[in-house]
Amino acid sequence: MKALALHVRLIAAFVILLGVTANFGTASVARAQSAPMVTDADAAQRIAWWRDAKFGLFMHWGVYSIPGRGEWVQWQEQIPVDEYAKLADQFHPDKFDPDAWAAVAKAAGMKYTVLTARHHDGFALFDDPGSSFTAMKSAAHHDFVADYVAAVRKAGLRVGLYYSPLDWRYPGFYFPELYRANAIELREQYQRQLNELASHYGKLDILWFDGGGVDWLGFGGVNFKGRWQARPKGDPYTGTFTWQDVETVAKLRKLQPSILINDRTDAPADFRSREGDRAMGNFENQHPWELCTTLTDGAWGYQLNARIKSLSEVLHLLVGAVGRDGNLLLNVGPRPDGQIEPAHAARLREVGDWLKLYGQSIYATRGGPYLPGDFGVSTYRDKTIYLHILNLASFNGKTLQLPPLSAKVVDCAVLTGGTATCRQTAAGVDVTLTDNPADAIDSIVALSLASPASEIMPIKTSVTMKETAAPAGKE
Ligand code: GLC
Repeated sequence: MKALALHVRLIAAFVILLGVTANFGTASVARAQSAPMVTDADAAQRIAWWRDAKFGLFMHWGVYSIPGRGEWVQWQEQIPVDEYAKLADQFHPDKFDPDAWAAVAKAAGMKYTVLTARHHDGFALFDDPGSSFTAMKSAAHHDFVADYVAAVRKAGLRVGLYYSPLDWRYPGFYFPELYRANAIELREQYQRQLNELASHYGKLDILWFDGGGVDWLGFGGVNFKGRWQARPKGDPYTGTFTWQDVETVAKLRKLQPSILINDRTDAPADFRSREGDRAMGNFENQHPWELCTTLTDGAWGYQLNARIKSLSEVLHLLVGAVGRDGNLLLNVGPRPDGQIEPAHAARLREVGDWLKLYGQSIYATRGGPYLPGDFGVSTYRDKTIYLHILNLASFNGKTLQLPPLSAKVVDCAVLTGGTATCRQTAAGVDVTLTDNPADAIDSIVALSLASPASEIMPIKTSVTMKETAAPAGKE
């Protein structure tokens, strides 16, 4: 009986490996955040540059860029491993120009970049002597990570690498109890590849993990409950195998003492990740966090003709994250030839043009003290509060009545055109906007204070509005 059960399980596992079983669902399933945060004495200082930077470029690029149906194409279309591996023979990106990538990031006003050194398909963009599924040992014969790191550093940006320990090619990932030796091999690959990345590319600023830890993308990533399905959130793997994340990340930190890592392993993290437009979430100023999302709708890897978010959508994501005291890591999927789609680069440049004008209200600020509300969000730096009014249509020509501030407002100015008048009373701060550009994406009002804004506790903000009284003598 036992032997039969094992046989059935083996067949099922094999079926999965061949990629001919049921669809396990899409990439957008939420994950548990299990990682603790770092608590060492240097933690705040280590992450200070990142908190000031606010805005980074994420790049998903690999052999999955060739079919152009997103980085999950192998899983979602159940492409057999051998078949998928053939993509590496076609991966010779003739227009790979990391200086151009770095230039786009700079022009967008981004301060750091994160490239997928290796995604869940297992294809490494770097040289791993222990694997044959790499850019070095296939058509390109090139170490893209090396050139990327050099170009980004030369441009004066901070360097990040994305790395996913899991690898769909390994049966041990799906069934770590059954394929223990294979699971150990996968873990060795993870430890070896991290060691390669940490040892041969100079100083890395960010190691952006995905798919580690005991969450659903971790070991035992699929479940049989009547049919094969992705392991649901709240039903973590309970077997005896582990990624040994704590030890592995400790080694990484030894080699790269100032590196920042996110919370997608079981090791202590420097910052938390929120994923996708809908995960913007609440204001949070206790732990550093970052919203990652895409410039185009859909997948993270290259997709032909994907809709590009409007400038307004992108800026609302950026300002929304910063006003909640987070960062934004915005993704593009470069084309298989290595180029960032010109229309994507153009949108990013528009964001940079806006930041050139209004970056003072974004970089090196903190979120608050007015908490996010119907009006938008606020940021502050030194003795200035920036009100980001993201919903001007409902407020133009009206008076916003903000709750009282414990600091004295000494001046008030609108940065984005039109006029602002502010009046501070015991009941609050009234801000009146007139003649503002009707199409303003974000109307920014700077409130200058007599004392540092950091002394003000976050203020729950329900804004009321009243019709602005017409000035005397006017009808
Ligand atoms: C999602 C996607 C994955 C992507 C990641 C970035 O989890 O499934 O492909 O790399 O988001 O956060």
